[in-house]
Amino acid sequence: MNTTDHHPSGGQRGGPSAPDAPAERARLYPRVTSFRSRHGTLTPAQERNWEQLWPTLGRDVPSTIPTDHGPTRATAEPLDLPTWFGRTAPTVMEVGSGTGTATAAMAAAEPDVDVLAVEVYRPGIGQLLGLIHRTGLTNVRIVRGDAVVVFTEMVATASLTGIRVFFPDPWPKSRHHKRRLLTAGILLQMADVLIDDGIVHIATDHADYAEWIAAEIAEQDILVAAAPDEVPFSLDRPTTKFEGRAEREGRVVTEFVLRRRPRDEVGAPTEPSNPDIKETP
Ligand SMILES: C[S@@+](CC[C@H](N)C(=O)[O-])C[C@H]1O[C@@H](n2cnc3c(N)ncnc32)[C@H](O)[C@@H]1O
Repeated sequence: MNTTDHHPSGGQRGGPSAPDAPAERARLYPRVTSFRSRHGTLTPAQERNWEQLWPTLGRDVPSTIPTDHGPTRATAEPLDLPTWFGRTAPTVMEVGSGTGTATAAMAAAEPDVDVLAVEVYRPGIGQLLGLIHRTGLTNVRIVRGDAVVVFTEMVATASLTGIRVFFPDPWPKSRHHKRRLLTAGILLQMADVLIDDGIVHIATDHADYAEWIAAEIAEQDILVAAAPDEVPFSLDRPTTKFEGRAEREGRVVTEFVLRRRPRDEVGAPTEPSNPDIKETP
């Protein structure tokens, strides 16, 4: 199967004729995003936490803005993780941290691991800032914006020990499948920022999305099933409201734990094939 025929949100690292600057690529090939814009206001306490903590704990992905020549945005600034966290430690990125319940609990349970939470939804980040403020966590940093930009432009190759994707939006309607985050192309982009033997941990309560994810995993051979003793951080997840609802409604949670095969075994990830991705109405 040619994944990009079916799942156009797959990767878009440039081929030989692709434009160099990521922002230029974003303008030419706007990606169908895996999230919808949601507005929401912060409580006064969250606003105070934001003012106080965001300059130190947060970074923004530059916004995409419409122009006469199509959507565009500034190139995202690379993150210097050891400087930002103030130490060198295994770093795990969480894609779509929601309200941060799992993020904060897992960071508290493993103080020797740094957690990079990425989320687009400001009120959710506001809640996570509140948790950090109340508990005094020092090992969480947050990026607001599209996680795909974070791991394609902001995080260095071979720098993360793990990536968590818990309950990604399932986009159940067929016409929305193009919005699903987890495609073979995106998995390869994740593999690029993982260290050798780094781990991707995915959980979903959506049976159809679980089948889709399994098929996408089978499309590439850089991320392979990990044995439990190969995982250098905890796989224990606190129950978030998504999992609680799934349990009450009798849905099964499927987890995937994947290991990035060492580079000297597999070479560089193959280029995802089709950069020619256009937003569809
Ligand atoms: C169904 S919620 C799950 C939240 C959380 N992981 C949990 O288990 O409670 C999915 C979250 O992913 C976020 N999201 C989806 N695509 C994203 C992306 N490309 N970058 C950052 N966040 C994203 C959404 O805003 C939403 O908050």
